Amino acid sequence: MTVPPLAETVAAFDARAAAYDRSRMHQLVAARAVAAARPQQGQTLLDLAGGTGLVARAALPHGITAIVVDASPGMLRQARSQEPRLRVVRADAHHLPLRRESVDLVTCVTALHLFARPEQALREAARVCRPDGRIVFTTWAAHGWSTGRALREAAEQEGLTLPDPFADSGTREAAARLAQQSGLLVEQVVDVRTKEPLEDREQAWHHVTRSHPEASTDAIRRRFAHSLPDHVEHALLLLTCRPQTSSPSR
Ligand SMILES: C[S@@+](CC[C@H](N)C(=O)[O-])C[C@H]1O[C@@H](n2cnc3c(N)ncnc32)[C@H](O)[C@@H]1O
Repeated sequence: MTVPPLAETVAAFDARAAAYDRSRMHQLVAARAVAAARPQQGQTLLDLAGGTGLVARAALPHGITAIVVDASPGMLRQARSQEPRLRVVRADAHHLPLRRESVDLVTCVTALHLFARPEQALREAARVCRPDGRIVFTTWAAHGWSTGRALREAAEQEGLTLPDPFADSGTREAAARLAQQSGLLVEQVVDVRTKEPLEDREQAWHHVTRSHPEASTDAIRRRFAHSLPDHVEHALLLLTCRPQTSSPSR
C-alpha cells in the first residue's frame, strides 16, 4: 500500500480535526482499545498517533496520566481543548522523544496504515514501554472498509481494477507477524466491527480516493455515489501485546 507523505497526512488531519470526534467508529474503537489496555490507577499511557486523544480521554477515568503523541498540530490542539489534563507532544511516531521504559501502556489506534514504516513505530512503542507493560494496536482488516469496497466495485465497472490496500496486512497472521518482527509478544488478537450511518458522502469519496487517486474520475464517482449504502462498516484487528524484553531494539 502506498502511504502518502507525512506532510500530506498532517494537512489532511489538521483539516479534519474539528469534526473528527463525531466519528462513532473512532469512539467505539477507542473504547475497545482502552478495555484491552486495562489501565490501572497511577499508570502512564502513551497514545501514539493519538490524534484528538479519543483513546487517552477514554482512559483518564481509570486514574492514569496520558501523553498523546501526534504529528498533526490541529489534532493535538483539539485534544487539549477537549481535555486540558492531556500532555500532548508533536512528534513523528517513528522517532519518539521519550525515554526507554518510561510508560506502562502504549496504544496506537487506526494509525499504523499511515506510517511509512509501521514496524519502526512499533519498535519505538516497545522501547518506551516498561517490561511488564502492554501495547495495544489496531490494523485494518482485509476488505475492512465498506466504502473502499464500494469504490473498488465502481472502478471495476469502469474497467479499472483496484487492489484492496489491506489485502496483505489485514489478516491475523500478517498482523501477528508485524508485531513479532517489531519486538512484541502477542497476547491476543480480536476482531472489531463497527457500523454507523454514513453522514457525509462527499467526504467518503475524498477519503477513499486519497489512497487511489487514479480512480478519481467523474464516471467512477457517479457509480460510487449511486451504490453507497446508508451505513458504513469497518472491520479491524485489535492486538494486545507485551514488549519482548530480550528484543535488540530495547
Ligand atoms: C485516524 S487518526 C487516529 C487518531 C487516534 N489514534 C484515534 O484512534 O482516534 C490517525 C492519526 O495518526 C496521525 N499520524 C499519522 N502519521 C503519523 C506519524 N508518522 N507520526 C505521528 N502521528 C501520525 C495523524 O496525524 C492522525 O492524528
